Amino acid sequence: MRLARSISELRSLRASLPEPVGFVPTMGSLHEGHLSLVRCSHQECASTAASIFVNPTQFAPSEDLSAYPRDLDRDLSMLEKAGANLVFAPVSDGEMYPPGYATWVTVSGITERLEGASRPTHFRGVTTVVAKLFSLVRPQRAYFGQKDAQQALVIDRLIADLDFDIELVVAPTVREPDGLAMSSRNTYLSPAERRAAPVLRRALDLAESLWRDGERSAEEIRSRVTALLRAEPLARVDYASVADPGTLEELETISPRALVSLAVRIGKTRLIDNTVLPPGSPLLERRTSCS
Ligand code: PAF
Repeated sequence: MRLARSISELRSLRASLPEPVGFVPTMGSLHEGHLSLVRCSHQECASTAASIFVNPTQFAPSEDLSAYPRDLDRDLSMLEKAGANLVFAPVSDGEMYPPGYATWVTVSGITERLEGASRPTHFRGVTTVVAKLFSLVRPQRAYFGQKDAQQALVIDRLIADLDFDIELVVAPTVREPDGLAMSSRNTYLSPAERRAAPVLRRALDLAESLWRDGERSAEEIRSRVTALLRAEPLARVDYASVADPGTLEELETISPRALVSLAVRIGKTRLIDNTVLPPGSPLLERRTSCS
């Protein structure tokens, strides 16, 4: 596995990668969720590139960028074992955003709902850095996790609108044995908060079982899910959404599909999770996961 710390090193190492190249962008602090994407790419592509960059432009001033967990050596050894061939870990923020940097990539519409409503500048940072990484790495496939479903939908729009010749693969959420979706943020939870956190998965299970019992009223599912979350004393619900998976507009009736998304604060830690109805259906209607 080769490591590039600058854009010029990345360009020269990328030139010798066998194609097709699969790409897994990350902010480090890796867990099984990231590694499943790397393994998926390793199975499907001749080479796999990953990036590790805690992207400052997707953090609001109120969000603690400096507290984001970082351990480059640990991350590199995990990526190597999972099958990555090239890792781009810019040596500084200035490598990606040098003095005078003034260009932003903005996807409108779906970025304004859900996470975008709570974090108004977040997706502009994500789409800007991902567009830059796509231009630098020039992958044929890019791998994202379904845990960040809205991010995956925004990247799908970005790829289509900017004519990137990249196939987006959305891989299933990897969970702890008690159902909590893996996330770098789980390390912020105290033991009591960690015990409370699987309430998100239980709320999604409830949405799925209501759907299986024939419930098609989005409002009924929203209110039952919200009530279950509110019954957990450590949880504060930011949103419980039952939306159209294409537009992210809130639905009245589920016909035929819905994205159920949750954002819940457990103590100071904000967790997100989601499921697609009918249960088991993919987020994007074409091939979206590693077979
Ligand atoms: O999902 C993430 O970790 C980040 O949003 C991404 C895609 C690496 C962009 O910084």
